[in-house]
Amino acid sequence: MPTIRILETPEEMTQVENLQRLVWPGSDAEILPGHILMTFAHNGGLVLGSYDGEKLVGLLVGFPGLYSLPDGPQPKHCSHELGVHPDYQNAGIGFALKRAQWQMLRKQGLSLATWTYDPLLSRNAHLNITRLGAICNTYLPNLYGPLRDGLNLGMETDRFQVDWWINSRRVSRRLGRRPRPSLALDHYATANIQTLYRGNATPDGLVRPPENFSTPQDSLALVEIPSDFMALKRQDFALARAWRLFSREVFTTCFGQGYLVTDLIFDRSGDTPRSFYILAHGESTLSD
Ligand SMILES: CC(C)(COP(=O)(O)OP(=O)(O)OC[C@H]1O[C@@H](n2cnc3c(N)ncnc32)[C@H](O)[C@@H]1OP(=O)(O)O)[C@@H](O)C(=O)NCCC(=O)NCCS
Repeated sequence: MPTIRILETPEEMTQVENLQRLVWPGSDAEILPGHILMTFAHNGGLVLGSYDGEKLVGLLVGFPGLYSLPDGPQPKHCSHELGVHPDYQNAGIGFALKRAQWQMLRKQGLSLATWTYDPLLSRNAHLNITRLGAICNTYLPNLYGPLRDGLNLGMETDRFQVDWWINSRRVSRRLGRRPRPSLALDHYATANIQTLYRGNATPDGLVRPPENFSTPQDSLALVEIPSDFMALKRQDFALARAWRLFSREVFTTCFGQGYLVTDLIFDRSGDTPRSFYILAHGESTLSD
């Protein structure tokens, strides 16, 4: 298993620049330059690397920030980039980097880290929400405007901003030695969950968003997203865009009504994998 190191030298930052080019190919304008990374590393931020021997195969970058409470601003950590070399993805490196970040933030005495991700990326959702225990009730439409790298080109940059409550039971249990196993759809079926919508599977193997969705009313609600949005963008960009606009409306409505995203079910039981977010009303489920 690759090892994790704290990075602080100019040579290491050059390796981070190069790995960013591999993970987000196509535009140097979207790469964080070494001098910014050095500034983060020397001022309470974190630049972590995962190494296979001497080869950098994973990176994590974050910096200190503030969030607002009624009695004034409080410190938090803004996690900004997590990237794994394409040949090393799905092998637990992303999780290991976030776990190391969690340990370091606890030492810094912080209670909150936030970051953003594209809500239609099922793998990122599984990692952030299910494995790491982050939650989300903040939808930011087209947050970054147009991005020019190969993963984002041509698509509105809508993002979930997630909250990662470092000292919560929810997060500690997921990052502990014996983490909670991921739940399956069946588990939620017995919990009386309201299906706001499921996509329509078509003979071409793609899943299309429906025309409309039910208004959320129960304490738990289920909504589908594409299980491989990157592949869908390559296969049928117009359909991918339809998912973007449809899910924007769903999440904006649900968050406005007091729902939070608390889980993602990645269901591999059928011919085609399907992905479903679980939304819970209020904060009742956060200590599970
Ligand atoms: C997203 C990324 C950082 C994750 O790192 P990683 O090392 O590949 O992730 P991990 O192996 O730790 O975890 C991935 C999990 O998603 C699961 N997964 C894979 N494909 C999935 C899918 N389509 N839907 C849901 N889950 C999926 C894996 O099984 C694994 O879960 P498990 O550990 O419970 O089995 C990495 O894939 C990456 O660099 N992607 C491109 C850049 C990016 O999107 N960066 C994040 C935004 S800045």
